[in-house]
Amino acid sequence: MIPSSPRSKSIEYAIRDVVVPAMELEEQGHKILKLNIGDPIAYPGLSTPEHMVDAYVKSLRSGQNGYSGSYGVPELRQAISNDEVAKGWTCTSNDVYVTHGVTEALQIIFSAVLTEGDRILAPGPHYPPYMAYPQMSGAITEEYNLNPNDSWKVDIEDIRNRMNNDVRMLVLINPNNPTGNVMTPNEIDEIISIVEQYPNCMIIADEIYDGLDFTGHQVSIASKSTTVPVITLNGVSKVYYAPGWRIGYMALHDPINSLIEVRDSIERLLRSRLCASTPAQMGYLAGLTSNRDWMNNHKNIVMERRKIALSRIESIDGLEVEPTGGAFYMFVRITHPKWENNDKEFVLSLLNEEKVLLVHGSGFSKERGTGHVRLVHLADPDTLNEAFDRIERFLRNS
Ligand SMILES: Cc1ncc(COP(=O)(O)O)c(C=O)c1O
Repeated sequence: MIPSSPRSKSIEYAIRDVVVPAMELEEQGHKILKLNIGDPIAYPGLSTPEHMVDAYVKSLRSGQNGYSGSYGVPELRQAISNDEVAKGWTCTSNDVYVTHGVTEALQIIFSAVLTEGDRILAPGPHYPPYMAYPQMSGAITEEYNLNPNDSWKVDIEDIRNRMNNDVRMLVLINPNNPTGNVMTPNEIDEIISIVEQYPNCMIIADEIYDGLDFTGHQVSIASKSTTVPVITLNGVSKVYYAPGWRIGYMALHDPINSLIEVRDSIERLLRSRLCASTPAQMGYLAGLTSNRDWMNNHKNIVMERRKIALSRIESIDGLEVEPTGGAFYMFVRITHPKWENNDKEFVLSLLNEEKVLLVHGSGFSKERGTGHVRLVHLADPDTLNEAFDRIERFLRNS
């Protein structure tokens, strides 16, 4: 047998791993209620706006089917930088690099920065690629605490205690997947004041859910930093409701010119992978440059479904949840004695017996996610209620 690389063998993506047994059940004719994947398009009422789809199609029809520049279509880079300026920092189109989603941006940033023995700090629990990709460069992702009893707030003291000169990146996901926490501006200020003592370290600000903030206090992390370099990540997948287009970006905020070498490496890597999809970039451009009132309607739908999920979970014996401030996930604590230490078994048994699909919390952090499940609260009210009826029955009968 031809061997694969040892590092690739430990890659896991829990969110899609649980889809395999669900597909087997579907092949046998079962209908599964899926509350597992953070794809808004999978749920009714949350479609991609027409004017964005039209722009994508128009681009295809008018022959824009060639490669674009490696850093992105110039008009799109300009529109993204305008958007970041509106969020409060001095961003130019040259600071913006368009990628095939935030996930590709992550692979490029990690390849450009990390080497053997480097450390990166990411929230625990966290979105899985923050653990999977750095180790491909020989780096180690270490989780900092989120407080499970206080809306999964970032434990700033824990960050302070873990910082040293080997830490190359501090990852902030705001609003957070999988917990739904939104950081306050004061928390961000405090974290920046810690990181600024470590000149080797930059902040990775994953703000892909920024348009789904229910607290009113979500702010751009780059807009708060005058000392620490910040790479902002965002894109079309979540708040523009087009995850299948695979378009995202990174925007470099370099207040003390410490990213000159990193920027050069990022640009080399971007050129070596040619470019992101040209027509999809045109679709995103239409989203950024047209009226965005439609977003309120989508956000109201998300909030309405959040309310249903919160009240249903609160009334179910064996589950507990912290109120969320943004995004469309809940990281639910299992308090039922049979399952509290066995979240993966819980997910698989629930799937087999009641045909409801969630994701096991240990897939987001072995240490901090165990005993939890993540659910996406985007299904329509009837489906959500049906799913919670089944979960309730499953726990009652356990
Ligand atoms: C925190 C976070 N970052 C990035 C992504 C993926 O972004 P993209 O679709 O742009 O690759 C997700 C998707 O669930 C996410 O939750």
